[in-house]
Amino acid sequence: MSAVTLYVPGDASAVSVGADRVASALEMEAGKRGREVRIVRNGSRGLFWLEPLVEVVTAAGRVAYGPVSAAQVSKLLDAGLLEGGAHELRLGDMAVHPWLASQQRLTCARLGIVDPASLDDYLAHGGYAGLGAALAMQPADIVRTVAESGLRGRGGAAFPTGIKWQTVLDQRVAQKYIACNADEGDSGTFSDRMLMEGDPLSLIEGMTIAGLAVGATQGYIYLRVEYPHAARALARALKAARERGYLGADVRGSGKSFDIAVRLGAGAYICGEETSMLESLEGRRGEVRVRPPLPAIKGLFGQPTVVNNVVTLATVPIVLARGAQFYKDFGVGKSRGTIPLQLAGNVKQGGLVERAFGLTVNELVNGYGGGSATGRPVRTVQIGGPLGAYLPTSQFDTPLEYEALSAKNALLGHGGVVVFDDRVDMARMARYALEFCAVESCGKCTPCRLGSARGVELVDRIISTRTGATVPNVRLDGDLALLDELCDTMFNGSLCGLGGMTPFPVRSALTHFREDFQRGH
Ligand SMILES: Cc1cc2nc3c(=O)[nH]c(=O)nc-3n(C[C@H](O)[C@H](O)[C@H](O)COP(=O)(O)O)c2cc1C
Ligand code: SF4
Repeated sequence: MSAVTLYVPGDASAVSVGADRVASALEMEAGKRGREVRIVRNGSRGLFWLEPLVEVVTAAGRVAYGPVSAAQVSKLLDAGLLEGGAHELRLGDMAVHPWLASQQRLTCARLGIVDPASLDDYLAHGGYAGLGAALAMQPADIVRTVAESGLRGRGGAAFPTGIKWQTVLDQRVAQKYIACNADEGDSGTFSDRMLMEGDPLSLIEGMTIAGLAVGATQGYIYLRVEYPHAARALARALKAARERGYLGADVRGSGKSFDIAVRLGAGAYICGEETSMLESLEGRRGEVRVRPPLPAIKGLFGQPTVVNNVVTLATVPIVLARGAQFYKDFGVGKSRGTIPLQLAGNVKQGGLVERAFGLTVNELVNGYGGGSATGRPVRTVQIGGPLGAYLPTSQFDTPLEYEALSAKNALLGHGGVVVFDDRVDMARMARYALEFCAVESCGKCTPCRLGSARGVELVDRIISTRTGATVPNVRLDGDLALLDELCDTMFNGSLCGLGGMTPFPVRSALTHFREDFQRGH
């Protein structure tokens, strides 16, 4: 009897709930039954409440079971898991699971499907088609294709990728760089991590295309140190790409050179800001650089540098393989294509949802998410990481796209959506935003360095006021006005987005949940 292939995610989210133990148990229990198994450690498909999700390859296709614990493995094998047998944990074919079938997976199309350690598997699932197309094009045509696709940076600022690449292409110098921002510091975000762990070659291919497009020969991936699984997956994939001529001095016989090195971050949130990231890559303390000059003109080691997020770069191969129009046909308004949304916090069904821009908050949170994990009413969501605004349920009909959110004084950022139920104290969440800013501030400018610390003190005073009957109302009103003024100063006077965007969570809490700041709450 030939070996049965099993997929058990090696993704950090699956490992954190016991996937390694499940893989060992499957091997052991199969051995006891005289059955040979080949276990592939794939990425997660992104349905976290079903992890560890085990899939078995049968004559009828892949059959999934989940969530599987190591203790259940023996009974699952007795029930015929290796043949796709019936069991209460049997989920069937994940390709038709409604949570996945309703998604529009482009960037994350291979997640959970391929073996991240296998270049052949990557090729078999459409990998390197984008590079093939790019190799037949002139650099300016590659840049034009990316510009025409409407792709905007997925790291947070949503800057048009094609314009950034054109700026770097236009610099007439010998040395340019591609710097991939894999710091992924935003709370509730994990799409970069999942891509690097589950489909690392898509990022490598995207960076190689970027190198060909702008004339860069060296790329760096600035990876947060807290992602050891991603570091291992990238190291394996880089080695395979080099061995097969997809990286190196002569990329696929083109005569063009491109290679990538991974550098581990130092663990500070500010190192995700692109100029701090460049400082850190150069071996210095992560401190924001004054702009101009832009990194596209004077970036890493003073040379023109493309700085792009993991998702942005991993999306480029699709644009090249399928064409600008194909990609542009997804989305709404100026938000073209798809976005991997990440659903986290107090939510029943957390995970990764890739859809064209325009899905509403309600469809994401109550549809895909199934409401709160506690079963209590959802009160708010924070969108776009720790510097993102809180949206009240009255605005849950807002489409998840850049302009619609901006019109609500909110932002999409890196696509993280964190859910809170009705027990959340929004004054404490405002305090948390200011405290986060105080702790993570690089210290270069006063509105952020001092403003955040004064803001924490102010919210502390407001919180003590709201419960203490002895403090006059006039003091509370004055403090609320002062907090608003402080937000103005930080927004207008900070050198970078950390100080500049902290007012978003604070102001949204003040605007939509003012009762939480007031006496008697
Ligand atoms: C405080 C702060 C933290 C940031 N953290 C990240 C991060 O972790 N990852 C990221 O890709 N971009 C982050 N950014 C955005 C980057 O500065 C930059 O816009 C992005 O890497 C550019 O890539 P993109 O155009 O592909 O989005 C951060 C920005 C700020 C202000
Ligand atoms: S806003 Fe904060 S993090 Fe940004 S440069 Fe100023 S002090 Fe540094």
